[in-house]
Amino acid sequence: MPSIAVISLKGGVGKSTVVLGLAGAAWKRGLRTLVIDLDPQANATAALDVTPIYTTNDVLADAREGIAAEAIRVSGWGPHIEVLGAERALEHRNVPEGRASTLRLRIALTGVVDNYDLVLIDCPPSLGELTRNALAAAQLALVVTEPSFFALQGAAQAIGAIEVVRSAANLGLQTAGVVVNRVRPNTAEHVFRLAELRTVYGDLVLDPTVPERTALSQAQGACLPIQAWHSAGAQQAADVFDDLLDTMLIRGREVSETAALGRALAFGDRK
Ligand SMILES: Nc1ncnc2c1ncn2[C@@H]1O[C@H](COP(=O)(O)OP(=O)(O)OP(=O)(O)O)[C@@H](O)[C@H]1O
Ligand SMILES: [Mg+2]
Repeated sequence: MPSIAVISLKGGVGKSTVVLGLAGAAWKRGLRTLVIDLDPQANATAALDVTPIYTTNDVLADAREGIAAEAIRVSGWGPHIEVLGAERALEHRNVPEGRASTLRLRIALTGVVDNYDLVLIDCPPSLGELTRNALAAAQLALVVTEPSFFALQGAAQAIGAIEVVRSAANLGLQTAGVVVNRVRPNTAEHVFRLAELRTVYGDLVLDPTVPERTALSQAQGACLPIQAWHSAGAQQAADVFDDLLDTMLIRGREVSETAALGRALAFGDRK
């Protein structure tokens, strides 16, 4: 495990980049990883070099227990990185439809996520039904933001959405933190916004932040993990994602332990 939904209300702040960076860190360590693309733009699907036959659109339409397994494909990165890809038509599923609409992904993933060391869910830039499905299926929610005024507001709304889905559909869901992306530490505006974020969100703001590095978009365009791209900038970004993956694995273990404790207590109460 863990399963992590990567979210933000605002577009273009780096959700897919964070998903791909963490997947790349897992790729380097040989961890068995599943990337689920819930964004109709299918950016993560493309960067992972896979042409899906069935997509998250089909999986959400069907939503039978465990059906997601049939749509998973091996990525172009190597056999231990697998993908449940997206397609444009997924767009139509961003509004609630039918019974248990928010739980469709969770149901479709029954018994599937346990086969992986890490599950990453890339979300579209909205807090519609697709992101709610991701939050209902995940153990952890990771919020991505940039060090700018508007992105900061977006982060607050994303944290609000996590609370809503937690109380309505997924009591075990925890916020893994806020990743600040595209940071240029030598600009006064970024230093100011980072300090502001730390004042508002405290320990939720993850360290290290992700620097602005051209290598990130170059590696994505070449359908390679940043960890396989050779430049000083790529190395810096790869080191950051390695640290962030450590944090995610620790938070994942904490969530699993809390869930196990909760089950044990509930069982004890019944005796
Ligand atoms: N730290 C970074 N340094 C340089 N380029 C970056 C960085 N983070 C993201 N980018 C580039 O910015 C663009 C937007 O990033 P990305 O696609 O990850 O954002 P997103 O939040 O997933 O967008 P969307 O909301 O459309 O899904 C991409 O071209 C990506 O390569
Ligand atoms: Mg994206």
